[in-house]
Amino acid sequence: MSFARAASIALVGVQGHLVEVEAHLAQGLPGLVITGLPDPAVAEARDRVRAAVLNSGESWPAQRITVGLGPAWLPKHGSGFDLAVAAAVLAAAGALPCAALAGAALVGELGLDGRLRPVRGVLPAVLAAVRAGVTRIVVPAMNAAEARLVPAAEVVGVASLRSLLAFARGGLLPDEPVPAADPAATEAPPPDLADVVGQELGRTAVEVAAAGGHHLALFGPPGAGKTLLAERLPGVLPPLEIDAALEVTAIHSVAGVLPAGSPLIRRAPYQAPHHSASAAALVGGGSGLAKPGALSLAHRGVLLLDEAPEFSSRVLDALRQPIERGEVVIARSGGVARYPARVQLVLAANPCPCASAAGDVACTCSSITRRRYLGRISGPLLDRIDIQMELLPVRASALLMEDLKMEESAVVARRVVAARATATERWRAHGWRTNAEVPGGALRGRWRLPRRVTAGVDKLVDTGQLSARGYDRVLRMSWSVADLAGRTVPSIEDVNEATFFRTRGAA
Ligand SMILES: Nc1ncnc2c1ncn2[C@@H]1O[C@H](COP(=O)(O)OP(=O)(O)O)[C@@H](O)[C@H]1O
Ligand SMILES: [Mg+2]
Ligand SMILES: [Zn+2]
Repeated sequence: MSFARAASIALVGVQGHLVEVEAHLAQGLPGLVITGLPDPAVAEARDRVRAAVLNSGESWPAQRITVGLGPAWLPKHGSGFDLAVAAAVLAAAGALPCAALAGAALVGELGLDGRLRPVRGVLPAVLAAVRAGVTRIVVPAMNAAEARLVPAAEVVGVASLRSLLAFARGGLLPDEPVPAADPAATEAPPPDLADVVGQELGRTAVEVAAAGGHHLALFGPPGAGKTLLAERLPGVLPPLEIDAALEVTAIHSVAGVLPAGSPLIRRAPYQAPHHSASAAALVGGGSGLAKPGALSLAHRGVLLLDEAPEFSSRVLDALRQPIERGEVVIARSGGVARYPARVQLVLAANPCPCASAAGDVACTCSSITRRRYLGRISGPLLDRIDIQMELLPVRASALLMEDLKMEESAVVARRVVAARATATERWRAHGWRTNAEVPGGALRGRWRLPRRVTAGVDKLVDTGQLSARGYDRVLRMSWSVADLAGRTVPSIEDVNEATFFRTRGAA
């Protein structure tokens, strides 16, 4: 037999595609030609695979070897095809029964010594294979736990090419060390709302944001507790449902940031990039095929832009469209990558650039400077933020009160779960999960509130104090306030509270 075929999986964004790896041996000058890989990758793959085969105690065919990876149109990046290439070559040489490769996909990078190295994106790869009808998947042992998150997959985790060969030749899979759950990776519990003294309005804003999935902006002088509150939003969000957990895990896998051992992400993710972060770090990028950025790593969770006006305007602008679409699309020479980006955006901002150190020094910024500073968060971005709150610092006397017991995140989270369940149930027939997803037209149409209830906010629109978009956002939030209060329809008070949250308490 001088021809054999194996299957592997290529990732484009978080989308996996089955790749066919064909090996053909012919008479001629010994050597290996690989087609279907981007140029610089070919040389590396060729040397790695040959060394790995030799160092696994196998002989390398002294023939002219042609390996083709198809389909040709598909961009193929990374070293995850090594294992399939080695298996196809050995099968073509008759060193491996072809039947062992039938109906299986192989993923893994080979070390020169023949060991299998873990690769990124195993979860989306396995999902794609199973969807394409290939349920038997060979992965590096280090990735086996991640691959097994896909229930229908029959996962074979191997630590080296040698053990794969032993297994394929009818032997047993040797007992190989499986990565234990990394104790450092079992995250610390998120910070708790019980640490925040006073700030009743700020706490409520966080709770409403969590209940409705609303974006949130916090303004106020340094030391007001903006960061403190913003960091506590993820801790009151409900755990991810299984579908969302798999989506989030797949993105983190592609980014290479999954903990080994216990890979499934169940908690709503949280990303707080520094304001010096580049656009690529935020929305995704890098050479070859773009990698996900903080925006996608925060998918189905929270993206906090602390000190938001300090981010470059280019970076803030780059966020706008993805936030609107819930998806990032990045075109590179290596192809177009799409990553989900459905986040709750949280902005925190001081009112001026001097941020008057620790609040000790009086601010000397002119009103123009102040306006220009906040203006760096562009209108279109800010306009999409449902909840906009102005925080005032709590008084020292409150901070010093000894036995002040504030409500814990766990208690708030229970109300949030109940409110979300109400909302999901109400919108189920329409396919919306949270109040934040409900289109304005629906809020003003089929779900219109009685005139009497909206009178106050109607007036703000009539007098030009609230934009049409702001109006929809108030209506949206009203439902969240009502859901938290256990009311089936928003009351006048709920709408007024929502209005307050939209107008920074200014109206
Ligand atoms: N409401 C509060 N309860 C408890 N500590 C607070 C509160 N507000 C501020 N602090 C203290 O002040 C520090 C600064 O708060 P922070 O959230 O960083 O302010 P900001 O982000 O608004 O500048 C916090 O680390 C905390 O120690
Ligand atoms: Mg801060
Ligand atoms: Zn100032």
